Amino acid sequence: MHSFGYRANGVLTFSIMLLAVICTLASLSDYLNSISPTASVKILNVNRFGKKSTGDDEVAVTLDISADLQSLFTWNTKQVFVFLAAEYSTPKNSLNQVSLWDGILPAKEDAKFSIRTKNKYRFIDQGSNLRGRDFNLTLHWHVMPKTGKMFADKLVLPGFRLPESYR
Ligand SMILES: *[C@@H]1O[C@H](CO)[C@@H](O)[C@H](O)[C@H]1NC(C)=O
Repeated sequence: MHSFGYRANGVLTFSIMLLAVICTLASLSDYLNSISPTASVKILNVNRFGKKSTGDDEVAVTLDISADLQSLFTWNTKQVFVFLAAEYSTPKNSLNQVSLWDGILPAKEDAKFSIRTKNKYRFIDQGSNLRGRDFNLTLHWHVMPKTGKMFADKLVLPGFRLPESYR
């Protein structure tokens, strides 16, 4: 009755169950891991600020981005995608979000960084709303695990303001 094939099948089923349990525990341990990312961003310079021929405002800046996202990494982390967005409200939209820069952090060693960069993506408003505009810079991250669900969060760095006039 208990032929070799039958037993082998039982072992396989058990192994698969064990694997499923390990995967579940792996993704659970991510939730338990306390995360405390830090970031600071400075606008070193406003390089250009004006109105395009379409009438839309565009600003070009040099940014200093420092962050320590190492606590996002566990043994279950495949990589982390980060992006920095300018977020502001206008009379028409309560939230405008413009991505200015992004990057992929393949490993924990890469997750503590400090870079100076021009905005990688164009900062254009759908209108003429940027002069004297208050805005937040928000660092968003998406953690891609080896197993389990992806999760995302962000850090808001408030209190930025664009110049009152074009330059
Ligand atoms: C900017 O950040 C402040 C403080 O976190 C928040 O109250 C405000 O709603 C944010 N503004 C936008 C446009 O998201």
